Amino acid sequence: MNVETKYNIKGYELKDKIILVTGANRGFGHAMTLDLAKAGANVIMLGRDLGSLEAAYDEVVCAGYQEPVLFPFDLEGATPEHYEQLQKDILDNFGHLDGLIHNAGIIGTMMPIEQYDIRLWYSTMQINVNAPFMLTQFLIPVLNKSNDARVLFLSSSVGRSARAYWGAYGVSKFAIEGLSKTLSEELEKTNIKVNSLDPGRMRTEMRRSVYPAENADNNPLPGSKSPAIVYLMSKKSKDLNGEQLTLKV
Ligand SMILES: NC(=O)c1ccc[n+]([C@@H]2O[C@H](COP(=O)([O-])OP(=O)(O)OC[C@H]3O[C@@H](n4cnc5c(N)ncnc54)[C@H](OP(=O)(O)O)[C@@H]3O)[C@@H](O)[C@H]2O)c1
Repeated sequence: MNVETKYNIKGYELKDKIILVTGANRGFGHAMTLDLAKAGANVIMLGRDLGSLEAAYDEVVCAGYQEPVLFPFDLEGATPEHYEQLQKDILDNFGHLDGLIHNAGIIGTMMPIEQYDIRLWYSTMQINVNAPFMLTQFLIPVLNKSNDARVLFLSSSVGRSARAYWGAYGVSKFAIEGLSKTLSEELEKTNIKVNSLDPGRMRTEMRRSVYPAENADNNPLPGSKSPAIVYLMSKKSKDLNGEQLTLKV
């Protein structure tokens, strides 16, 4: 199902909404943080690099948007105890969670499966699949305390139709599609709506690393697509559940 990227953000349509974004320090996560905060949401910015998280925080505050909260967290090294602490911190500080956006990810490497580096395979699966699984598992009770919650898994076209040499990244996105669909069915009768989203190509570090020779200027900036994330977190999208969404420019 296609979702329009052009969405006119109304000030404060996400007022009082608590939304956690992973990989909020740069790329698409950074762009969506700005737009969510612009719409009045309290964004919990999760990322592993405190310096760039702080820089992104300053941008949000300087723009006059809703002040976010920083949550330094490494999705590769985190154990269930770290997720438990994160759950407790959100409950203690906010009492509930309205949105969980699994945006962080790594590309791994472009390589035939036959030669794929085994350590890099494990890292890619840990960050792109196992971490979203654990984060979701620990945050379902917190999302359950919201009267209208969303879980959004960032996916890719290579997670819907296989492409040679995309290796662990492609396989991880197939897994995320499976996780999204399974969870959406399990939570069907709750207030938590679960969808996956292929954002399409964007001018970010991830895209540059896969296509170093292309003219990056031809790729849309992440900020041109992030207004759609506000729509997907708003009550206007409350009937979407179990969908494989694709952003259309
Ligand atoms: N860009 C595209 O063209 C495109 C196309 C289709 C789908 N997507 C999907 O869109 C999402 C965002 O992509 P992007 O292009 O914005 O990627 P990006 O620019 O490479 O940013 C990736 C983000 O993930 C974070 N991250 C990576 N490993 C982490 C870890 N261990 N712990 C915490 N955070 C970690 C990075 O933090 P650090 O700064 O610390 O590395 C960064 O904030 C991804 O899920 C990607 O698969 C992107």
